Amino acid sequence: MRCEEVFSPKKYEIPENFAFYSNIAKALFDYLQEVYPGLKAKKVLELGSGTGVATREILKRFPSSKVVCVDISCEMLRTAKKTLPDCLYVRADAGDLSFLREKFDLVIGNFCCHWFMGEGFLKELFNVLKDEGICAFSIPIDSCKSSFLRKVLKKIFVFLKKEGYASVYRTYSLKKTVELFDGMKKSWKIYEVKECYSAKKWLEVLKSRGSWSFMFAGMEDVAEDFWQKLIKSEDSLDYTWSVVLLLLQKTGKKVKCKVCKSL
Ligand SMILES: C[S@@+](CC[C@H](N)C(=O)[O-])C[C@H]1O[C@@H](n2cnc3c(N)ncnc32)[C@H](O)[C@@H]1O
Repeated sequence: MRCEEVFSPKKYEIPENFAFYSNIAKALFDYLQEVYPGLKAKKVLELGSGTGVATREILKRFPSSKVVCVDISCEMLRTAKKTLPDCLYVRADAGDLSFLREKFDLVIGNFCCHWFMGEGFLKELFNVLKDEGICAFSIPIDSCKSSFLRKVLKKIFVFLKKEGYASVYRTYSLKKTVELFDGMKKSWKIYEVKECYSAKKWLEVLKSRGSWSFMFAGMEDVAEDFWQKLIKSEDSLDYTWSVVLLLLQKTGKKVKCKVCKSL
């Protein structure tokens, strides 16, 4: 499945997702304002802006800023535009920002950079940031909190691996994620979000967020068959997401571009 087809506003716009993404966006902006109190941003670029959950937070915190939203999915952008008509919406791959002719004070990415922070992404950021410009990203990292759901997902991975499947996407450890942005001034903190749903709800939630495709791209149906075999109970299952709230500032130093080959 192509990345732009993974997200559909119809599936994405469920209360669980609004609660999840707005909670993380709020934590990200609180952290940004804690580290950079009084920060002013005339021009803000939001990457992977989706249906505008984090965009609302940008407009609240920086009400007089000009906001440009970039997303690979037209459908997601169209939905955002209906409720937030004053932003500028551009359908593009955030992994290649060479089409942008202006520079920004602030670049935001709420729970989306893991889709596109591949080779050259750091350079792209440098090119679109003003001097001293700041990026604020929330990025999922490898979680070490044990849970039944985590064990099930791991078992599916192992099963698919035995079948010869190698996942295209993956999350990284905190260390590796932070290292990808060497050359920028960095501050970060870990934010944990615990969710608890029935197995049926989890499947709906993981699919609606693109997480199912992120983990099992091209093998979603096989993974689902295996999931159904592994999960019998209707009990609530919890899962704790580990997210790094990462602030980066362009310092003018030469960029040492780390390449993340497997993305
Ligand atoms: C999990 S959603 C997060 C959306 C939004 N940031 C929020 O907080 O609700 C990830 C978003 O990233 C977008 N996306 C995925 N790959 C992308 C890419 N290569 N370039 C731009 N957007 C991308 C998806 O279309 C989706 O809207």
